[in-house]
Amino acid sequence: MRIERYGALLATVLLASCQAAQPLTEAQAAARRPAGAHLAALYDASCRSCHTRRDSGAPLSGDHTQWDARWAKGPDTLLQHAVAGYNAMPAGGQCATCTAADYTALIRFMADQRQ
Ligand code: HEC
Repeated sequence: MRIERYGALLATVLLASCQAAQPLTEAQAAARRPAGAHLAALYDASCRSCHTRRDSGAPLSGDHTQWDARWAKGPDTLLQHAVAGYNAMPAGGQCATCTAADYTALIRFMADQRQ
């Protein structure tokens, strides 16, 4: 009896931690903000307008179901696509003052990757 109970608990914990990423709603994406005033200001004035709206075709900020495959392309490719443009993603992402370091940090934030 006791073992069964622990088994059920373990199964629940494992299920919760192994659960596949779920798509975010637009509201959940819109609620996210990068840490730091500098980055947050850049984000609010550029990336945010598309990357929190599904109909823009942009991957929603923080949505692993949309970002993980992109993140796998590697930071150099993603930086290059942000700077040079990529399909409907406009060159520079409508940020006139973003540096390469800013883009890299913004991409990391939107992809929800810490390291
Ligand atoms: C005018 C709308 C718009 C704005 C503003 C915008 N993006 Fe995008 N972004 C897109 C769209 C649309 C895509 C999806 C392109 C595709 O995969 O076809 C995209 C995709 C991306 C990708 C993934 C590229 C890849 O190789 O998969 C990165 C990285 C990116 N955007 C970074 C940014 C950053 C950083 C900002 C702000 C500085 C920004 N975007 C602002 C529309 C926008």
